[in-house]
Amino acid sequence: METYLKLLENNKKWAKGKLKNQPEFFTEISKTQEPEFMWIGCCDSRVPANQIIGLLPGEIFVHRNVANIVSHGDLNCLSALQYAVDVLKVRHIIVCGHYDCGGVCAVEQNLRLGIVDNWLRYIHDIKREHSKELQALNDQDRKNRLCELNVLTQVRNVCESTIMRDAWASGQEVAVHGWIYRLSDGILHELSPVQHALKKT
Ligand code: CO
Repeated sequence: METYLKLLENNKKWAKGKLKNQPEFFTEISKTQEPEFMWIGCCDSRVPANQIIGLLPGEIFVHRNVANIVSHGDLNCLSALQYAVDVLKVRHIIVCGHYDCGGVCAVEQNLRLGIVDNWLRYIHDIKREHSKELQALNDQDRKNRLCELNVLTQVRNVCESTIMRDAWASGQEVAVHGWIYRLSDGILHELSPVQHALKKT
């Protein structure tokens, strides 16, 4: 059987299993979505948001791009963020990076990959900004640290967006978290203190 046909078969089994346990599951979920969480993560196939934090469909609003970048010029990410905050009223935004991120490592090693190099320029800027700290580390630690610095930078970018500024100014309770995932043991780590308002810089 073609592998893609297997996926359609898996889906039928999954939907059937859901109905067996919760006959109203799809009827209920098709009415509305009220997720408490938003996830901004990397496209990497090994970091699927719902699965690694044990959430069901409907429980987390997900935006993923290469290397979990939040750019002030990226309408795709900003649109998702605005919808999550203004319309869905999520309570938590989780920016989640991961160690051994291909995008971050490509920047660290100055690799040329193609179109994506232009997207990854944002991480080159982070590398330059923290060059002193990074240069003092060995190869593996430097890659790991750049993955962490990327998450911290993207947390700041979320906090500094007009969307979060306006939400916080109006008293909306929404927290921003910076997490990083380790592929080798499947564990998430909190990197940044939880942000409840724009930090004075
Ligand atoms: Co990645």
